[in-house]
Amino acid sequence: MSFEPVLLARINKPDSPKLEGYRADGGYATFERALKEKKPEEVTAQVKDSGLRGRGGAGFPTGLKWTFLPKDHPGPIYLCVNADESEPCTYNNRILMEKDPHQVLEGIMLACYAIKSRCAYFYIRYEYGTAYRTLQAAVDECYAAGLLGKNIHGSGFDLDIFLHRGAGAYICGEETGLIESLEGKRAWPRIKPPFPAIEGAFRKPTIVNNVETLACVTQVMKRGNDWFKSLGVPPDPKNPRDAGSYGPKLYTIAGHVNTPKCVELPMGITIRDLVDKHGGGVWKGRKAKAVNPGGLSMGFVDVNAKLKDSDLTEYDIPLDFNGPGKVQCLGLGTAAVTVIDDETSMVDVLHNVCQFFSHESCGQCTPCREGTGWMLKIVDRLRRGQGRKEDLDILVEVSDRIGIMPGTTICGLSDGAGWPVKTAIRKFRAEFEAAIKGGGKSKYAKALPLVGAGH
Ligand SMILES: Cc1cc2nc3c(=O)[nH]c(=O)nc-3n(C[C@H](O)[C@H](O)[C@H](O)COP(=O)(O)O)c2cc1C
Ligand code: SF4
Repeated sequence: MSFEPVLLARINKPDSPKLEGYRADGGYATFERALKEKKPEEVTAQVKDSGLRGRGGAGFPTGLKWTFLPKDHPGPIYLCVNADESEPCTYNNRILMEKDPHQVLEGIMLACYAIKSRCAYFYIRYEYGTAYRTLQAAVDECYAAGLLGKNIHGSGFDLDIFLHRGAGAYICGEETGLIESLEGKRAWPRIKPPFPAIEGAFRKPTIVNNVETLACVTQVMKRGNDWFKSLGVPPDPKNPRDAGSYGPKLYTIAGHVNTPKCVELPMGITIRDLVDKHGGGVWKGRKAKAVNPGGLSMGFVDVNAKLKDSDLTEYDIPLDFNGPGKVQCLGLGTAAVTVIDDETSMVDVLHNVCQFFSHESCGQCTPCREGTGWMLKIVDRLRRGQGRKEDLDILVEVSDRIGIMPGTTICGLSDGAGWPVKTAIRKFRAEFEAAIKGGGKSKYAKALPLVGAGH
């Protein structure tokens, strides 16, 4: 089936971030039509019926989330746009913000109209200076054109968008950490419930949505639900909890590939096809050994592990909301696919991963603060050739016990810290055992750095 990108359709046009070019391509006509012809509830209903699920990591149905806001709330309702984008090797939001900011802004306008919000906060990863400046210029153009501000086009609808630069930590992307940070505090995630839809920014009802989710809102409202549902993967009839994986998706390809890049494809491409057809294959004529299917926190796919009753391997799983879970990964996450080649030590890779999560734990919950630190210490010991036989079981036990899923922590950072550890040890145990037996003499003489195109 041929596929025309829509989210990335404009990124190579000259002056793609400018309002004039966006207008020439039909931009903002969808928002203006919605203002004139649709009630806010109708926009929410369409987004809900489209089956759009959040692109920020958890895959929560977008329209459904909007319906959680209290009905007829008299005070302010806020939209927080999550552009913190700190999951390693993830850069799809950056491409949208730098190359087609108006597509994202139109999604924000439609979302705010739907949820009756007059104020959106755009929380941008601090390191994204270009995205920040590009977006501010685009917001200024919208105010000058009467697309933002009071009584937009005489509709009675007011909307302001404020950009807010992030505080430079991974935890600022967790939705309640983001809200705390926006309020000027340390980004310590809040205990839930209450969820932000009931009590969020400044203790008022708040929706938090990812940048790509909001770009998808623009496309859903522009092209309709039949188009959106014609792409991707319908719900699995054997799984009553599956809401399907519809629509186009941005995948970032990084690590040991020939051509790291961000591509737009219908949901459900296999890892193998993504790497071979779009990432230029594994670099230096080597083979892939492991893959993170959606950011480090999703854990590892073992490229050579056969799927049950099949000639296919874990490399052939589809990258939809369900696929990675079928091979013990946490989920699709940010759809940032990082490839690790067969000349790279999994002990070194895991060491790198553990350093990241230990550094980024906010420290509020003892199991996360101590668990991520101890996992790093143990992997560090393995790497230096001082590993003990019992270390592998300890690592698996710790990684199984820290997290919001086992119910021991406030947020999901610790689940994300545990998943790469447990999948690496369970799937590549022989390599870790060899590291213990070899006393530091690894066949992987020179550790190769992980290369991410986005950072
Ligand atoms: C540690 C951590 C970091 C996160 N970082 C981001 C992020 O950078 N961007 C993002 O959109 N969601 C991030 N999330 C998920 C958000 O909490 C939230 O689910 C998401 O912004 C909701 O948007 P969506 O429904 O449009 O996907 C993170 C979650 C955790 C636990
Ligand atoms: S799980 Fe970790 S990152 Fe999340 S609130 Fe607790 S200590 Fe902080």
